[in-house]
Amino acid sequence: MSSDSALRYEAALKVTGGAVFEAEVPVAGLLHAALVEAPLSCGEVLSVDATQASTMPGFAAAVSHAEAEALQPSPATALIRERVIHFAGQPVALVTASTWLEAKAAARAVRIVTEGRPAVTALAQARDKSFAPAMVGRFPAESRRGDAAKALADADLVIRHRYETAVNNHHPMEPHAVVCWWEGDKAVVHTSTQAIFGTRTIIAHAFKIPAADIRVVARFLGGGFGCKGQLWWPWMLWAMLAAKKTGRPVRLELTRAQLFTLVGRRQETMQDIGLGFSADGCLAGIEHHVIAQTSTHADYSDSTAVYTRFLYACPNVTTTHRLVRTNEPQPVPMRAPGTAPGMFALESAFDEAAERLSIDPIELRVRNFADHDQEAGRPWSSNGLLECYRVGAERFGWSNRPERGSAVDGHWRIGWGMASTLYPAIRQACKVRLQLAADASLRVQCGTQDMGSGTYTALGQMAAAALGVSISQVTVELGDTWLPEGPFSGGSQVTASLMPAVEMASAKLRARLSQMAVADERSPLSGQRVEDLDFQDGAIRSRAGNAGELLSDILARGATDGIEAEGESAATQHPSLAATSMGYGAVFVELGVDPELGEIRMRRVCAAFAAGRILNPLLARSQYVGGLIGGIGMALHEMTVTDRASGRIVGDSFADYLIPVHADMPDFDIAMVDEEDAHLPGGVKGIGMLGTAGIQAAIANAVYHAIGRRVRSLPIRIEDIIG
Ligand code: MOS
Repeated sequence: MSSDSALRYEAALKVTGGAVFEAEVPVAGLLHAALVEAPLSCGEVLSVDATQASTMPGFAAAVSHAEAEALQPSPATALIRERVIHFAGQPVALVTASTWLEAKAAARAVRIVTEGRPAVTALAQARDKSFAPAMVGRFPAESRRGDAAKALADADLVIRHRYETAVNNHHPMEPHAVVCWWEGDKAVVHTSTQAIFGTRTIIAHAFKIPAADIRVVARFLGGGFGCKGQLWWPWMLWAMLAAKKTGRPVRLELTRAQLFTLVGRRQETMQDIGLGFSADGCLAGIEHHVIAQTSTHADYSDSTAVYTRFLYACPNVTTTHRLVRTNEPQPVPMRAPGTAPGMFALESAFDEAAERLSIDPIELRVRNFADHDQEAGRPWSSNGLLECYRVGAERFGWSNRPERGSAVDGHWRIGWGMASTLYPAIRQACKVRLQLAADASLRVQCGTQDMGSGTYTALGQMAAAALGVSISQVTVELGDTWLPEGPFSGGSQVTASLMPAVEMASAKLRARLSQMAVADERSPLSGQRVEDLDFQDGAIRSRAGNAGELLSDILARGATDGIEAEGESAATQHPSLAATSMGYGAVFVELGVDPELGEIRMRRVCAAFAAGRILNPLLARSQYVGGLIGGIGMALHEMTVTDRASGRIVGDSFADYLIPVHADMPDFDIAMVDEEDAHLPGGVKGIGMLGTAGIQAAIANAVYHAIGRRVRSLPIRIEDIIG
């Protein structure tokens, strides 16, 4: 296997149990924590009484708002400092005991007195109080280009519909956990997080201590998908307060049920789309208005309609986002935030237009291809969307698409559908350190974390390639704030962010090694020109002659302690960008619908993606397939349901919250379209989010193609098919 498809660096550790996840960190004298949850969805905590709990076996300590008042006010501490109850299941205290079962029992013995207030438990109950958020991600909440209302009024064809998406929860296999302790005034925090440095900043602020006195460690994560960020922080801070109070290490691990309430969700959306076309299928106007749920303690809006501003060419576009506060858990980004719900609406509406115009769905999209970013008024750094349509259609066999409703396989009615997907290519500032030992083994250090997506492997590969050493000679260290500050794991940014830092650090090492060789008359490379040197196979070779020398020989002479260098990446400078960078894809699905039972079976998925240079096709394929599976879940399975009377989540377990399982899996054919992008360092775009959007609409479009029924609400349920 070539190093291009290096297997996962940590694979052996994971399959042998050698990878220690943070909840498992062995530590003596550990106390276990359990959370006490509010029984109502709106109101106030009047008192927390742990008197009886303190008599329970193993009890060590309880902390609640009283202890948290010592923490500095911030969004991260509000839920544990303030006594307001915003949603059912909100923790109001944390109890520690010798074992987890004892902690749970003691938590049940804590007496809570609350005062209830009328709750809003559905978006529909408070629609009249909707408001515009300040921003949607990094974008303005509203946009207006030309006059969409007039364009729709004058259009030959108008498609106007409401599309809806349900609440989803992220559910990484590994629940959120922390094992933390204090060494004097210094804190050690092992926690499953997508942002070790962000976590350190929050702790420093909350406890008013220097960041240098805090060590946050997250060496391995069992997934994240967006929920291992800010909403975990309050509960982690409570565990740290308990560790302080008891002088002992404390472990808090969330239950599967708590992942439905405490760490975020994909927000529910209602999206009103209007598309106006000329008779020949050119877009004249687009309106995309989004209403979505947020909590009563924080505002969050996905960038749901943002991509509608520029995916297609159109002179008249209006988009808006509005939020409604409910006494339900707080939404956060969930894999493919914005594009997953937004593309469902836009790409479903496009399919409806194609049908009405009698134009092939791909042809309609090609006709409306945007050759530059019309919203920002600048070029694309690269745009492989047309190539994705071409390659995807060819591999899928789109030209053989049967007439709608005509294909059957036994009792299955067969449908084909397709949709576009996209996701921004952006980077964060970060640092990487490379240490080359005297034996030419390479240590790569970066304080980022691997969510399971392959950051260990990708970083190791980049560094190995840059110095021409074998990947087997490389050790990668991640997940510790003692390392140089790395990017948080979100927004498909990590690989692209690491690239320039690795390039800079390796360039420094190459320059130093080259100099050590050419300036030393004992080296076979003595007197060669540095420009003529290549780094390969653990050696420096001269292109000018046959001369070469092993790195280990060069180091043995001049640097027996090895050498090291750091490199930095700069963040994407959004306002001053010369070009807009996006990854693109075209997703094709074939499915079967059983019209009598209402069952939908995925049969095959073919997706073509253009996302810059692919460093490791094996890992990239895994990311794309994982994203597509998440999209299948959103389209056909996942739905978090609130009981409107109590505000509680109904069926908060994997028995009731459906996710796709192996038996639901179709064949996946992934095509990676070659793309060069000279604007981006190393030509690298992100890929994690790209596969997660688009497929939802492709599925809804295929269901329509199979049985002629348009479902505009996700997930598509049995009653949507047979009702
Ligand atoms: Mo992601 S939804 O930025 O983890």
